Amino acid sequence: MKRVLLIAVCLLGGLTANAVAHDLDAGKTLYTANCQKCHGANGQGGVGKKLVGDASKWEFTAFKNAVLNGLDDEGHKLKQPMPLFGKVGLTDPKGKVPDDTDLQNVYAYIKTLSGKKG
Ligand code: HEC
Repeated sequence: MKRVLLIAVCLLGGLTANAVAHDLDAGKTLYTANCQKCHGANGQGGVGKKLVGDASKWEFTAFKNAVLNGLDDEGHKLKQPMPLFGKVGLTDPKGKVPDDTDLQNVYAYIKTLSGKKG
């Protein structure tokens, strides 16, 4: 009986873990539509800074602050044209201020990027 219970608990645990797992597809969609033109398809940078290697290692709260409020991990203002997504909202879906789920998804997606040029 104990064993059955243990298995049930493990299964439940697995299900919950899945439910909060980041949605990389959603993250990719958001990244492609809103970030790629400046930060590159591989997060390698362009108009915008390279995202892989530095910002991809930030705490989520710092990342969120950068995207919403245009402040880096030391509280310095980021240069234009990095949009203040907390103010202007996304390009697609247009005008939507990204919520924590959106940001977590984009953040998780950026962590999978190679940072390679081209
Ligand atoms: C119009 C161009 C543009 C778009 C679109 C854009 N960014 Fe940026 N981003 C920049 C620029 C330029 C900087 C560098 C600012 C600086 O150095 O002060 C930057 C900086 C950042 C930083 C801080 C990097 C660091 O190491 O300091 C993060 C994080 C970031 N962008 C994430 C995003 C995300 C996520 C998106 C999409 C939701 C996005 N950006 C869309 C131009 C853009």
